[in-house]
Amino acid sequence: MYDLIVLGGGPAGYNAADYAAKNGMSVLLIEERALGGVCLNEGCIPTKTLLYSAKIYDYAKHSSDYGVSFTGAAIDHAKVIERKGRVVKKLVGGVGAKLKHAGVKVVNGHAEIAGRGADGFTVKVGGDEYTGAKLLVCTGSSAAVPPIPGLREGLAAGFVKTNREILDMTTLPRHIVVIGGGVIGLEMASYFNSVGVEVTVVEMLDHIGGPTEPAVTEILQKNYEKRGVKFMLGAKVTGVGSSSVSCELDGKPLEITCDCVLCAVGRRANTAGIGLENIGVLTERGAIVTDDQLKTNVAGVWAAGDVNGKSMLAHTAYREGEVAVNDMLGKKDAMRYISVPSVIYTNPEVASVGETTVTIKQKGIDADVRVLTMNYSGRYLAENEGGDGIAEIIIDKAHNRVLGVHLIGSYASEMIYGAAMMVEKEMRVADVRKFVFPHPTVCEVIREAMFD
Ligand code: NAI
Repeated sequence: MYDLIVLGGGPAGYNAADYAAKNGMSVLLIEERALGGVCLNEGCIPTKTLLYSAKIYDYAKHSSDYGVSFTGAAIDHAKVIERKGRVVKKLVGGVGAKLKHAGVKVVNGHAEIAGRGADGFTVKVGGDEYTGAKLLVCTGSSAAVPPIPGLREGLAAGFVKTNREILDMTTLPRHIVVIGGGVIGLEMASYFNSVGVEVTVVEMLDHIGGPTEPAVTEILQKNYEKRGVKFMLGAKVTGVGSSSVSCELDGKPLEITCDCVLCAVGRRANTAGIGLENIGVLTERGAIVTDDQLKTNVAGVWAAGDVNGKSMLAHTAYREGEVAVNDMLGKKDAMRYISVPSVIYTNPEVASVGETTVTIKQKGIDADVRVLTMNYSGRYLAENEGGDGIAEIIIDKAHNRVLGVHLIGSYASEMIYGAAMMVEKEMRVADVRKFVFPHPTVCEVIREAMFD
């Protein structure tokens, strides 16, 4: 009998298990694949490893812009993938060690909730049964595979890949078609473009980057178009053949010949086959319904991470896991989604937090939108020959509070947490004025844009 059984060992599950154990709970964590989940094994970390190699290669290719001669730069994709494997292995091992140190019992296998008895919830793993007073469901998400004719067959044949298979491919294709111009699509398009593969992104909306601030995604698209990436926006994929993708663009059919397809059209919560129906956990559009404490409709059951479909990001999952455990411990806490930052690790990087020009219009908020070129920053100018990055700050006119910050340019991913704190703490421009920003840094541009 455990105080808590955690289903799934991704960022939500392993962080919550560690935190609960450190707070005195007896914890069992069940994971069917590898600890670390999608983030460590087939998402955030592997892609960042690949993108860093691409960045070094890009630096080498453009070194003459900075007065450095460099010849013979080459990328060895198989070696990049091999290094990715080592980075992942080290981090997965680290999660295992962390859980062991905290006293969490880890079981490898598929967990299925069997029911609820007088002692608590029963969870089956193969022939074994475990009982827990509380349950935390953190089973994550999987790549969505829409019913496009030929797509499933393409996946089975290896011609079509999801985020899982693409990261283990040891040879480079000649031409890749990326279906979906969202976060995964753009990051992988960036890698393949850098290493010399022809890239076509097919996106059904009229813009890339989904809900990301249009001012920054438009700049991102221009950057990649200059480098040769083709964007087919407003295009409907109608079928996948054995060496082509068919779409409809402006009402006209079009066939794109390619030797690899990446399917990156969003993710679906993993709610099937884990016995949620045996205890009556409510789902909506395939995701578990949760409140701001991550409670489900069933007393004693919480759900954190991608499985609740609210914000499919690893850093959201960490925080949700912690909020759920605090609720179990009777500590007052709540999840706030508006101040969760998001990053697209392209080159230049995109980082955002809070309201966008689109959401303020939808909500009828009267706001000032202040935009400043990153070239205002001495460091940015020194390090980015021909750079066109911007910082956009959204400030509400009624209270002069920082509602949103959107960046495209170097270090954006590392700068955004400061902006997220401004949004979370509902800081006013006058509050930010009292902060001293280090000089010379790119982050000074946030300050300057705000007071512009
Ligand atoms: P996404 O939701 O970001 O983008 C999917 C895109 O595919 C959308 O723009 C959508 O309009 C388009 N689409 C859907 N069906 C289509 C079709 N039939 N034809 C053409 N386009 C179609 O999903 P994505 O990129 O798969 O990423 C999944 C999740 O992983 C996201 O929630 C994302 O936040 C997360 N993620 C986060 C990263 C980060 O924080 N840097 C990196 C990678 C993924």
